[in-house]
Amino acid sequence: MHADIVVLPGDGIGPEVTAAAVDVLQAVAQRFGHQFSLHEHLIGGAAIDATGKPLPDETLAAARDADAVLLGAVGGPKWSDPNASVRPEQGLLAIRKALGLYANLRPTKPHPAAMGASPIKPHLLAGVDLLVVRELTGGIYFGERTRTAESASDLCTYTVPEIERVVRRACLLARGRRGHVTSVDKANVLETSRLWRDVASRIARDEFPDITIEHQLVDSMAMHLLSKPRAYDVIVTENMFGDILTDEASMLAGSLGLLPSASLGEGCVGMYEPIHGSAPDIAGKGIANPYGTILSAALLLRYSLGLSQEAACIEHAVDDALEAGVFTADLASDGTAISTREAAAAVLARIATPARIAG
Ligand code: IPM
Ligand code: MN
Repeated sequence: MHADIVVLPGDGIGPEVTAAAVDVLQAVAQRFGHQFSLHEHLIGGAAIDATGKPLPDETLAAARDADAVLLGAVGGPKWSDPNASVRPEQGLLAIRKALGLYANLRPTKPHPAAMGASPIKPHLLAGVDLLVVRELTGGIYFGERTRTAESASDLCTYTVPEIERVVRRACLLARGRRGHVTSVDKANVLETSRLWRDVASRIARDEFPDITIEHQLVDSMAMHLLSKPRAYDVIVTENMFGDILTDEASMLAGSLGLLPSASLGEGCVGMYEPIHGSAPDIAGKGIANPYGTILSAALLLRYSLGLSQEAACIEHAVDDALEAGVFTADLASDGTAISTREAAAAVLARIATPARIAG
């Protein structure tokens, strides 16, 4: 297969972790006889510095033409002046919106070898396998904003079709898993959440009689996610709740640096990004955890290119590296932390050696 992949390294640790994932993609191409053409473009603060815009037209055009997009992270103190008129994060929101990427899949499955890094007790983590489907192009992230000296407002709007399509996507994904969907809202307070709950109930009842759906309020969900994470399969929720709950869910796995994501729409290019941010405090030190981005590359192969065997090869290689205790600083406890490049090398070695992948 030949595929064109746009790479958007972005800011902070973005360039370090995407470099690792690019090496992994090339190793997969070599092992399985594919040809991946990878083209880097600017986004976020790096794009503001070079062009004045967080999402240059040329980047968006390249992304639209590509078979898939791999993104690192955006943002950093250099661009976070509260009075700034352009911000790196606007570039990320704009590309999600422009490409129609309304469903952001954020899987969490704690690896036994990394459970020591989790603040949650191991007996609660055994068997946890969650998929959060975060709505990504609506809600308060995209509503009208106002600001005066005395007040500020952010409008949260959802339309019925916006809710229908993401709930439908979550139910379809649940069909391939354990058949259980938990829809998360704040229906005791918010009107958008009452609409969300109505629509989610109807879609599940009318279109997915084989799926069980349960509704949870976001505050109690935040608690249940830590007290009984095994009880959940697919969790579907609006944009901001999904942002918050998935950072929390990453603590089940042991580190924010481990979680990948896939941003998907309907018949459009997919974008793949780790759920962590640009981590300015460790940027440039070569110590960031590349696994979340490498696992995002695996999702890219599975969802955008239909290469499920190749995706599984990457996932097994990361599992195997974790099993062998190849831990970056966020996971290591006893001074044995290795660098971003060493972690990537451990994955590369396991991809190059088919015997390790058999299981
Ligand atoms: C994420 C990030 C982004 C978001 C930021 C960088 C705009 O936190 O992908 O989760 O809030 O969506
Ligand atoms: Mn986030």
